[in-house]
Amino acid sequence: MANSAPLLQRLFSLEGKSVLITGASGGIGGALAKGFAEAGATVGVHGRDHERIAATCREIEAVGAKAVPLTADLGSVSACRDLIGDAHAQMGRLDILINNAATNRRKPITAVTEEDYEFVYATNQRAIYFLSQAAYPFMKAGGGGKIIHVASINVFYALDTVSVYGMTKGAIAQLTKVQAVEWAPDNIQVNCITPGFIRTPLSKPIWDDPRKASWLRARIPQRRPAEPEELVGLALLLASQASSYITGQNIVIDGGVLAGGSWDRDGDW
Ligand SMILES: NC(=O)c1ccc[n+]([C@@H]2O[C@H](COP(=O)([O-])OP(=O)(O)OC[C@H]3O[C@@H](n4cnc5c(N)ncnc54)[C@H](OP(=O)(O)O)[C@@H]3O)[C@@H](O)[C@H]2O)c1
Repeated sequence: MANSAPLLQRLFSLEGKSVLITGASGGIGGALAKGFAEAGATVGVHGRDHERIAATCREIEAVGAKAVPLTADLGSVSACRDLIGDAHAQMGRLDILINNAATNRRKPITAVTEEDYEFVYATNQRAIYFLSQAAYPFMKAGGGGKIIHVASINVFYALDTVSVYGMTKGAIAQLTKVQAVEWAPDNIQVNCITPGFIRTPLSKPIWDDPRKASWLRARIPQRRPAEPEELVGLALLLASQASSYITGQNIVIDGGVLAGGSWDRDGDW
């Protein structure tokens, strides 16, 4: 029977859907959590810090949606598997997984230790692999699903001191395509959001440094960082019926950085 709901609701509503957002205690994850709650989803709010998780949950409940707090350190594979099991058990279903949590240690290559490498790799790359693997059977059993990875402009644009983080993000962009191909027959669409420079706690050291902030503003055609809320629209598109035939894509949100630069804009330092 044809769905007679208005077009926008048919395409973008997440009523009845459950989403797990990793790193929802952080800047971008928190904004996505609130946006998905407003679109009607039940939101699994993941992080490590109880107080920050609770703050995101309060924002979700303030818009009349259901929030499920979930705590896990993604540094271990078993914790990743348990997180997916807990999310499914507590929400009753798992339709959408947003792999958003990540960490960084900015150092030149010559200063990176084995421990630094393992630390960044475990959260940013290995966790995403095994979270997705654990989510797959639940999505398949539910008739389909959506996986959205959050990568970084470092997939395409090298910055010094960002070697390990950049490698993990490059790996996510490739994983997006393989998952999309393997899981397309199960009606699971897998896509990746690649943010440029967004104002959050993770990027605070950059924006707090006047020299770096000035250098960046000169290179961002829109001349400013994005606010986390500016990622919500794309995430909703990739999580909803509106993207039923979009899979394996990596979509950049960068205010024009990768489009090019201007001769006339130098940093004012
Ligand atoms: N901000 C930017 O300019 C920018 C640019 C490109 C890409 N990104 C990407 O966007 C995503 C979100 O970044 P953000 O800027 O919103 O960062 P953020 O505010 O620092 O938030 C990071 C989130 O990840 C969680 N997290 C970190 N390590 C974890 C671990 N080992 N186990 C479990 N959770 C962990 C944090 O949890 P706790 O609250 O417990 O610390 C927090 O919820 C990341 O994938 C990042 O790489 C950001």
